[in-house]
Amino acid sequence: MSEQLIISSGEKNDKYQTLLQQLPALMDERVDNVANMSNLVAALKQTFGFFWVGFYRVQADELVLGPFQGPIACTRIKKGQGVCGTTWVEQQTIVVPNVHEFPGHIACSDQSKSEIVVPLFKAGVLVAVLDVDSDEFATFDEVDKIQLEKILEWFSAYY
Ligand code: SME
Repeated sequence: MSEQLIISSGEKNDKYQTLLQQLPALMDERVDNVANMSNLVAALKQTFGFFWVGFYRVQADELVLGPFQGPIACTRIKKGQGVCGTTWVEQQTIVVPNVHEFPGHIACSDQSKSEIVVPLFKAGVLVAVLDVDSDEFATFDEVDKIQLEKILEWFSAYY
């Protein structure tokens, strides 16, 4: 694999396109999915400088913290709790422009101000969610939703 990630200096959409082109080289289907999740979140962090980006994985009736980049975070989230737990229940992406206005938001860090949570499906079953947090309000929009969903749909084969 290439050892250097190329980051587009263009608009957000260009950054996603450049990242998408390089992701296959960062994946290895012969290894544990933790390695692939780790490189995916690292590549997202490097490309966009997100405050926090990581996976929570379904384990029995909870979401459990997986590979992430950023400050320390809550280890367990109950189904229906916070943005991640609500994404699990609703089985679809949730964009939150202001976390203070989301009922039941879990504040792992008081610096987190907006977020997007995207479900990861494997054979039609939600197995994890990707949580991306920003320390600014209204960071995420339709572009992030479309591109992150596209990335996770593709990533499913490496999970
Ligand atoms: N914000 C999340 C909790 C996880 S941390 O932000 C890393 C939520 O409300 O689901």
